[in-house]
Amino acid sequence: MTTTTKGEEEEESEQVVTPWDVSAGADGKIDYTKLVREFGCSEIDENLIERIERCTKTKAHPFLRRGLFFAHRELDEIVSAYEKGEKFYLYTGRGPSSESLHLGHLVPFQFTKWLQDAFKVPLVIQLTDDEKFLWKDLQLEDCRRLARENAKDIAACGFNPETTFIFADASYMCSSFYVNMVKIAKCVTFNQAKGIFGFTGDSNIGQIGFPPVQAAPSFPDCFPHMFGMNKKSLKCLIPCAIDQDPYFRMTRDVSHRIGGYKPALVESRFFPALKGESGKMSASDPTSAIYVTDTAKEIKNKINKHAFSGGGATIEEQRENGANLEVDVPWKWLNFFLEDDEKLKEIGEKYGSGEMLTGEIKQILVDVLTPMVEEHQKRRALVTDEVLDVYFNPTKTPKVFLDLFREY
Ligand code: TYM
Ligand code: TRP
Repeated sequence: MTTTTKGEEEEESEQVVTPWDVSAGADGKIDYTKLVREFGCSEIDENLIERIERCTKTKAHPFLRRGLFFAHRELDEIVSAYEKGEKFYLYTGRGPSSESLHLGHLVPFQFTKWLQDAFKVPLVIQLTDDEKFLWKDLQLEDCRRLARENAKDIAACGFNPETTFIFADASYMCSSFYVNMVKIAKCVTFNQAKGIFGFTGDSNIGQIGFPPVQAAPSFPDCFPHMFGMNKKSLKCLIPCAIDQDPYFRMTRDVSHRIGGYKPALVESRFFPALKGESGKMSASDPTSAIYVTDTAKEIKNKINKHAFSGGGATIEEQRENGANLEVDVPWKWLNFFLEDDEKLKEIGEKYGSGEMLTGEIKQILVDVLTPMVEEHQKRRALVTDEVLDVYFNPTKTPKVFLDLFREY
């Protein structure tokens, strides 16, 4: 899907946001307001955030407070139902195409972890090894291995193993899942799929047939061991970045026809690449991203060498004019990962006015990211194969889930 951004007097330029491609318009920026309008989702407002804080008795996550998770579909209805005592389940996922995750991938997972703890609800995580096999120049066996590797990084985010089920498509595919896929597939014509996903005559038929695989987990009866066989036993909330929206727009279109609830969505902006906003951080260009496996030294070097700066070209210019926070990557990254609101505000003021220099804000970023990544690595080292097997267990006793639900 393409969205067109038109400057006042500028020539027409295009921003592209699909599940596989994200690139900014000619001004180097993603126009999120336009995206929301074209996709047809809603912006999250203060009132909704307050209601979430009230019904979970939890302070909103910084990603929510700062508008980084900024768009939704029917999140308000999930919250209304929750206020009346109705539970839901969370569904998110990852396409395993690289050995390790980069910081951008941590964004939806950290937020999902917060949602799981705040709402005390079960979670399913889909690893689309089949998707990456169909789209990338990779062997299926490699994608399956990467799924398990990535699951270690995901587990390291601290999901409750009792209430979290992680599955890889090529391993989990079961009758209940397949039945949902076929029902969804029958509701979508090739012409509709072309319109939503941009398929062409050159797309392989595995790609064309894939969207129902990502759609199906939006229905609880894909997981009979957890949620039983009733398609309406539980509503579903999906946290993801906004690039995944097309899949779930399609899912929501067919939900009623297959007898299910429409999944609700909570969607984030993109964590920008180190070299500048122009898209989502790519796993394939190592200098554009910081990985959860990077060493302290690599983090420092990458930030100092490659982080796009909105600061003045010389110290004098910076002191005189201050930094352009709109394009400054260290500033944007701090907005994601510096928890202290007061400190963030102070940095914004000082750096924006020129009192603080580029080298200083980069150093602050290094000091924030290094312990965060080291912490992650420590937790990942604790995720042994035995631990992983607990998350992946497809016969996980429903009792755990039943007890969880009775508690409330
Ligand atoms: P994938 O592996 O491309 O991305 C995994 C998740 O991370 C989000 N994401 C980002 N968020 C912020 N900033 C970035 N720079 C950034 N890059 C990626 C993605 O939006 C996604 O939430 N097809 C999916 C896997 C999937 C899925 C799902 C995702 C299957 N089921 C349900 C979300 C919800 C994929 O390849 O994601
Ligand atoms: N919470 C529901 C109730 O007690 C039952 C329920 C619906 C449930 N979906 C579930 C229990 C999934 C466990 C798991 O009325």
